[in-house]
Amino acid sequence: MKNQIQPRARVQQIPEYHPPLGNRDSLRLDFNENTLACSPAVLAAIQSLSAADLTRYPERGPIESLAASHLGLSPEQVILTNGVDEAIHILCQAFLDRGDELLLPVPTYTMYEIYASATDATTRRVQAGTDFRFPLEALLSAIATKTKLIAIANPNSPTGSVCTREHIIAIAEAAPQAVVLVDEAYFHFYGHTVMDLIGKLPNLIVARTFSKAYGLASLRLGLLAGPDSLLQWARRVLSPYSVNTVALAALKAALTDPDAQSYLDWYVSEVKRSRAQFLVALNKIGLAYWPTEANFVLVNIGPAHKEFAAAMREQGILVRDRSADPGCDGLVRITIGTRKHMHLAVAAIQKWKSAGVLA
Ligand SMILES: Cc1ncc(COP(=O)(O)O)c(C=O)c1O
Repeated sequence: MKNQIQPRARVQQIPEYHPPLGNRDSLRLDFNENTLACSPAVLAAIQSLSAADLTRYPERGPIESLAASHLGLSPEQVILTNGVDEAIHILCQAFLDRGDELLLPVPTYTMYEIYASATDATTRRVQAGTDFRFPLEALLSAIATKTKLIAIANPNSPTGSVCTREHIIAIAEAAPQAVVLVDEAYFHFYGHTVMDLIGKLPNLIVARTFSKAYGLASLRLGLLAGPDSLLQWARRVLSPYSVNTVALAALKAALTDPDAQSYLDWYVSEVKRSRAQFLVALNKIGLAYWPTEANFVLVNIGPAHKEFAAAMREQGILVRDRSADPGCDGLVRITIGTRKHMHLAVAAIQKWKSAGVLA
């Protein structure tokens, strides 16, 4: 029998989003994850959890305070979330109403628009030029009274480009009626932050993830930092147990164990070295790419983008075809992992090239 129940009209309009997560046993250069492992100290903390620990509902408060002091903030200024994805979701829920607008430089991370589309607000996209530099002037002129949320991934995905501190300040000052979310998911590979402006710019909120440099994508762990005057509303729509006990134990070790800190530092410097070498290799191979401050690079493959991704997969390496992103036809994003991993990637690209498909 046909079901008579229909979802909200807005929900019917949300495009289906299925990230290609199947069969990922190969070298994963497709989701910008850590390609190796989390710190052994973090793994040990997870392994030391008892069955009794798992019987309790998770208490995020103490670890939230720890994360806040790690960032030089007060506990009211931090919310731990089930990944940055949940952080984006609760900001959309809390701040986007009917008639409001999410303002988005594109191309950018997909989930901003997806979560906004589940609200009664609309999204206004500002297209970056072919150099993918941050479209500051166009974004500033798109700010309107109905702009209630502006999302800036910094560094941006899939481009790897950045928005400078001065530009972020200019945007926040030009849109005092809007929450300005600076998503620093790839902060560690860039090194610049606006975290110190929390509380100074009243509409600034910063997001961080533990999915990338920390190597904890499966635990779903992120955070929002911002003034209490804004975060108190985000807390109203936050699911109270969305950060689980395993993730909390991992985070405690990640932030307090000196070995975990040195492992993180090592991984980040390894990726930076690897990135420099990989870009040189791309030059030698003759593939154009965009400057990147993140642990990935957007490469111009051209009309053969699909075949390229398939050929890489055949050689055991996953890359992400971003051709469907606005302004990204023919472009493929490749995550930068360790030098060992990127040597494998270079060999696979060279093999593809020598097969003559790129010529
Ligand atoms: C810019 C950006 N923000 C957030 C995320 C997701 O972070 P999390 O795994 O914490 O939900 C990603 C993941 O690819 C990303 O590229």
